[in-house]
Amino acid sequence: MRIPLADLYNTPDERNLLDTMKQGVIGKPLDRPEGPLKVSGTATYSAEWKLDGCVEGMLVLADIPQGTVKTIHRDAILGMPGVLAVLADEAMVRRSAQGTAGKAPVQDVHTVDYFGQPVALVVADTFEQARDAALALRVDYDAAEDRVAFDPQSPDAEVEQPSDQKPVKGGDLDQAMRDAAFSIDVEYDTPGHASAAMEPHATIAHWEDDHLILRGSYQMLAFNVKEIADCLSMSTKKVRIIAPYVGGGFGSKLGITHEAVAAAIASKELGRPVRVVMTRQQVFQTVMRRSETRQRVRLAADPAGRIIGLGHEALVSNLPAEDFAEPVTQATEFLYGGENRLLKVDVARICRMTAGSVRAPGEAVGMQVLEAAMDELAEKVGIDPIVLRKRNLPAKVPVEGTPYSSRMLVEALEQGAAQFGWNKRKAAPCETREGDWWIGMGVASAARVNMLIPAEARVTLKADGTALVETDQTDIGTGSYAILGQIAGEMLGLPISRVKVVLGDTTLPPGAGSGGSFGAISTGSAVLRACEAIRTKLARKMDGDAETLEIRDGMASVDGRQRSLVDLLEGEDMAEIGSIKPGKTFKDFSQASYGAFFAEVGVHAFTGEVRVRRMTGAFGFGRVLNAKTARSQCLGGMVWGIGSALTEELAFDLRDGHLVNHDLAEYHVPVHADVPALEVILLEERDAAASPLQAKGVGELGICGAAGAIANAVRNACGVRVRSFPLTLDKIIPHLPDPFASAA
Ligand code: MOS
Repeated sequence: MRIPLADLYNTPDERNLLDTMKQGVIGKPLDRPEGPLKVSGTATYSAEWKLDGCVEGMLVLADIPQGTVKTIHRDAILGMPGVLAVLADEAMVRRSAQGTAGKAPVQDVHTVDYFGQPVALVVADTFEQARDAALALRVDYDAAEDRVAFDPQSPDAEVEQPSDQKPVKGGDLDQAMRDAAFSIDVEYDTPGHASAAMEPHATIAHWEDDHLILRGSYQMLAFNVKEIADCLSMSTKKVRIIAPYVGGGFGSKLGITHEAVAAAIASKELGRPVRVVMTRQQVFQTVMRRSETRQRVRLAADPAGRIIGLGHEALVSNLPAEDFAEPVTQATEFLYGGENRLLKVDVARICRMTAGSVRAPGEAVGMQVLEAAMDELAEKVGIDPIVLRKRNLPAKVPVEGTPYSSRMLVEALEQGAAQFGWNKRKAAPCETREGDWWIGMGVASAARVNMLIPAEARVTLKADGTALVETDQTDIGTGSYAILGQIAGEMLGLPISRVKVVLGDTTLPPGAGSGGSFGAISTGSAVLRACEAIRTKLARKMDGDAETLEIRDGMASVDGRQRSLVDLLEGEDMAEIGSIKPGKTFKDFSQASYGAFFAEVGVHAFTGEVRVRRMTGAFGFGRVLNAKTARSQCLGGMVWGIGSALTEELAFDLRDGHLVNHDLAEYHVPVHADVPALEVILLEERDAAASPLQAKGVGELGICGAAGAIANAVRNACGVRVRSFPLTLDKIIPHLPDPFASAA
């Protein structure tokens, strides 16, 4: 039942289908259909499924950074109340398998690579019994003598170039730096970040004969099936994952984590369902981190502020043998001009837990630094930072020469500035004082690559005139249920109350999954294509063609002839599977979502405390599928931007690599009191090269550069330029101007 349209996205779909439909639901700020379930606590999250005979597993983590497991004293705890088993061998996977599908991520079980690596699972009748026994389990290790350096910047750190990121080189950057009328050459640091999803990682596993069923919290189910099948050396056909509701992921659930594999193995051994829920501390210490970065930025400009040379070099870290390296310079490649350039990323091998994708991997930390450096350049050149940015937007991607599919950066900067009141900003620092507070404003661009990922979805137009959308796509809090229903409702001429969306089960056609801001446009495009196929069939039934078919509120018409869908269907359901895969449009165009951030901060003249007073973001990401859920994504990104700028920082103890601030009390995500009213402007745009929906990704855009705007506002407020995120007050106080001198 595949649709006749080629599923490879090779040619921009200029038909602008969604704007020609009559239902009028696409783009509307509709509520999430699953919202009432979530706020009433009745949506079933991973750990909440009730399975008969389910027992509880608790992971035991290594408390040394490197070495080998010598003895696990399991006998000592097997007699404790309720304890059923201690698993500690063979297939116990000890690190998250992100990016290793197809490469059997099972490691040598006797080797400890980082503090916090799971080495055993204790299973007991109740959670408390499992936890008690896990705490009592003694594990002897041979600690390794020769440790990998903990500090990625130490001279003995092992540094290599990631295989998937080749340096970008053009012209002669050193010469450009010498020729420049104005230049900066600065180093910035950003710390590691935690995903800090609200729902801890959790899995309930059970077996039906040789079929494994997992209920858990994951982002990309079709991919996760491959991972778990790899880990257990079994066929993907015998694995089913169910995950209708996921309490956030931010990258930490892109790949399966240890609890999933451990639960599956334990369930097989015990012949009953096993639930493994990570504690908050385990999530922090074990799952995944965003790498810390050190970034050197060089900008060389002519007298007018046009960039002639651009360097962006980053040092990140990961465990040995992990493929992922935070792609810090990803947006720098296409954002600003300057033919003389050098962009590169190096990865230091250190033994902290796996570094992986954390919301907007690359841009989140790369853009905040690039945008702070741009502010430094604007100050040197003596021009407005918005003017500097507008002056440096290339016609095509430097070096590569690829054209842009669409780019609303100028509009974002201008409309954002107007809304924010940028014209009230004083160019020089320390010009505005309110009582004990210095007040300043800062701006930054936003940019995040756009990706289309293979996806399938089934749409069934039911005989009763309702529609059913089915795919294993997840909704990790982003609004998948809402937007997929809106796409189907628009295309099939049905009010949203007559469209049902079923997600998060791998028995359904494989969607894109949630990650990299690609879920909505990829799986949404598959839904669009399925609906197109249905429209073609409906039109045929009315002796017309799909182009002239109009449907609204379940009434179809062709050339003035009207029939209801129920009537047309004659008691039969009509089902189609739509699919999409990235094709030539992906290579032919540089695709990214853009925006601009404006922040106003107060810096306390005596203590150096920074408060964000207000923030405006303007974003262009192609068609807006749902103005409410899209806005929510932007807000969430900006909130994390406040965290990146001011509070969030993984603190490792360099003696043994343990994470000191491994919970939400000590790892400071912004709370309500830290977040002022945020304004979001959604710009009108269509991008046919990006997807048949003419939409681009928005999920991660709101964080990409946000912290830079805040850092720039701090500089503008009090004159202090901090090149080490987060901007905690200890880094500000020593450089503050005399608080009394200008207080009068
Ligand atoms: Mo994302 S960091 O690809 O969930």
